[in-house]
Amino acid sequence: MEEKWLKRWDDRYKEPDFAYGTEPNEFLKEQIDQLKAGTILFGAEGEGRNAVYASKLGWVVQAFDISKEGKNKALKLAEENKVSIDYQVGQLPDLDFENGKFDAIALIYAHFPPNIKSEYHKILDKKLKKGGTIIFEAFGKNHLKYRNENPKIGGPPDLESLFSTEELKLDFKNYEILHLEEKVVELSEGLYHNGKGSVTRFVGRKK
Ligand SMILES: C[S@@+](CC[C@H](N)C(=O)[O-])C[C@H]1O[C@@H](n2cnc3c(N)ncnc32)[C@H](O)[C@@H]1O
Repeated sequence: MEEKWLKRWDDRYKEPDFAYGTEPNEFLKEQIDQLKAGTILFGAEGEGRNAVYASKLGWVVQAFDISKEGKNKALKLAEENKVSIDYQVGQLPDLDFENGKFDAIALIYAHFPPNIKSEYHKILDKKLKKGGTIIFEAFGKNHLKYRNENPKIGGPPDLESLFSTEELKLDFKNYEILHLEEKVVELSEGLYHNGKGSVTRFVGRKK
């Protein structure tokens, strides 16, 4: 992993404010509210706003990210909310999440570098139980136009890091698709996701 990439996230999370706020992402909330609580894994979970929300609903929560500053903030948020989460820092292939363990996996703006994002999806698929659910939202291929018009919306500057509905279909071939679309939404998430953006949303159930 590039030093610069890790430093970017650590620096962002060292700031006292929560970069994406302390409330869960709206799509995550809408979807998880419909599921029965079980075990869930959050990828690239940053400061833990989604993981803490799930824990408050009664889910047994594990999470990972490359940023130890993100972990510090997430544990602080968990403590403030009187819940606990198991949060591992490192590269996914080196972490010890059990295969076939999880009832759900949530990827919310999990913009892994483009050269590994598909490989990470394949590893994550192995962690999910049959019948388990993936909940995904991240910036889509049409997002650059919105980012250029309004830098406050955030998101990666390069097309390769953005997600098409087609690539999700390919990465998660063995899933019943419950929801798949790229659409324009208005975000209001902390300091870095504000305004109109184009997001790709996917919910799938593993066959
Ligand atoms: C836009 S933030 C989203 C944070 C969180 N999911 C949320 O919605 O608030 C993207 C996250 O991806 C993490 N990240 C980037 N590359 C990663 C990698 N290779 N493995 C794990 N996490 C990564 C960053 O550290 C950052 O926390």
